[in-house]
Amino acid sequence: MTMPDALLRRALELAEEFRGRDPHLPVFPRITVEELRRALGGPAPEHGEPAERVLNHLVRGAEPGIVASAGPRFFGFVIGGSLPVATAADWMTSVWDQNGPIWSTSPAASVVEEVAAQWLLEFLDLPRHCSVGFVTGGGTANFTCLAAARNHLLRQAGWDVEADGLQAAPRIHVLIGEEAHVTILTALRMVGLGERSAIRIKADDQGRMLPGELRRALAPLSGPILVCTQAGDVNSGHFDPFFDLIQAVRERAGWMHVDGAFGLWARISERLKPLTHGAELADSWTVDAHKWLNVPYDCGLAITAHPQAHMAAMGSTAAYIIPGQGRRDNFSFVPEFSRRARGFTVYAALRHLGRSGMRDLVECCCARARQMARLLAPQPGVAILNDVVLNQVLVRFRDDDDFTRAVIARVQQDGTCWLGGTTWKGNAAMRISVSNWSTTERDIELSANAILNSARIEAPG
Ligand SMILES: Cc1ncc(COP(=O)(O)O)c(C=O)c1O
Repeated sequence: MTMPDALLRRALELAEEFRGRDPHLPVFPRITVEELRRALGGPAPEHGEPAERVLNHLVRGAEPGIVASAGPRFFGFVIGGSLPVATAADWMTSVWDQNGPIWSTSPAASVVEEVAAQWLLEFLDLPRHCSVGFVTGGGTANFTCLAAARNHLLRQAGWDVEADGLQAAPRIHVLIGEEAHVTILTALRMVGLGERSAIRIKADDQGRMLPGELRRALAPLSGPILVCTQAGDVNSGHFDPFFDLIQAVRERAGWMHVDGAFGLWARISERLKPLTHGAELADSWTVDAHKWLNVPYDCGLAITAHPQAHMAAMGSTAAYIIPGQGRRDNFSFVPEFSRRARGFTVYAALRHLGRSGMRDLVECCCARARQMARLLAPQPGVAILNDVVLNQVLVRFRDDDDFTRAVIARVQQDGTCWLGGTTWKGNAAMRISVSNWSTTERDIELSANAILNSARIEAPG
């Protein structure tokens, strides 16, 4: 059997080979599902194989199906890409293999999350007493925050939801923006508030919730109020007008949640921070580390200004659990029990970048997004649909849905970069997100050229 150290060295060699790949390979691999199944599938193994052979087989089989989403020319979804220091810390997280829920399973994981949580609150300039849970991503962070909201709002109404459930509880009125991210709907389902009962509040042409509409919707309601806002619309990158919204929510002793999966990072930049004015007054926030902090998957943060409600909603105990007694038990803030020690990568990224490096990362991505818009906008038949205030660019071609979708497909096929499509205000659009530390001006030039070349095709039909 291969010695573990040799195996780790082999993994390093394979990692170096992967990172040294030709940078001009198509960003999205040209492989079929059948080819991948043939390479990786087969009958369930009756007998084992030597570790190094398994590693080689996995890498050779999987790599042709690996998307270069960690690279500089992947503009789909909002994926980010791992900083080298965060990847290295992630390797150590795996080597240490700490179970991260309680002090007794990993003192280091407990203190690192405690420290990273405080640094995060400072960088994002949120109230320093907030509680922070290190969860799997933005969707889980939304769920965690809404569970804390449910606890708090119902406790105010004299109801202990953790003990007595929702069956006979007072009704919580939920109000969300027209452009709320789909994971807000999932979170509403998971906390038992339901997605259909949420009142949708009209947004403006950039996707920002209209405060007057919120006030109008609140007027006839009585009882607990939960309002879900967003920092960084997943399409346009825009921000709800938090300061105006929070006034309306406070008048009703409601809870305001901010889904800032990527957009909340704007608070690190003095130039961009005004876009989030008033967000610091909210009750809870979602922000993803695996998006703009550029740590590996999976890592999101659920932050609340109500640690008691947060812990009441998430905490658990059992006879065999040894409580931290003043030391942080990470599981008090997350839905999981056993869990990866996610704080290590966040700590490494924050320490490596510092406030100034984090600001540069965010501002650079925004500058690249503006560069992309500048290169595309003057071309005939190209329209930029959003004001590019952050890292998102929405593009439409010849004002034609089918043609726009054809251009997107053509860009994906070309392979210079990868980006996806969306529907914005009823129209098909190309969606470009810049959130990777390694994207250069040259990457944007190459990608803009590829997009414009793809747009020279004739409209189908
Ligand atoms: C605004 C917003 N909220 C929530 C999410 C979900 O985050 P995750 O994919 O990390 O679960 C996303 C993901 O793109 C997002 O953009």
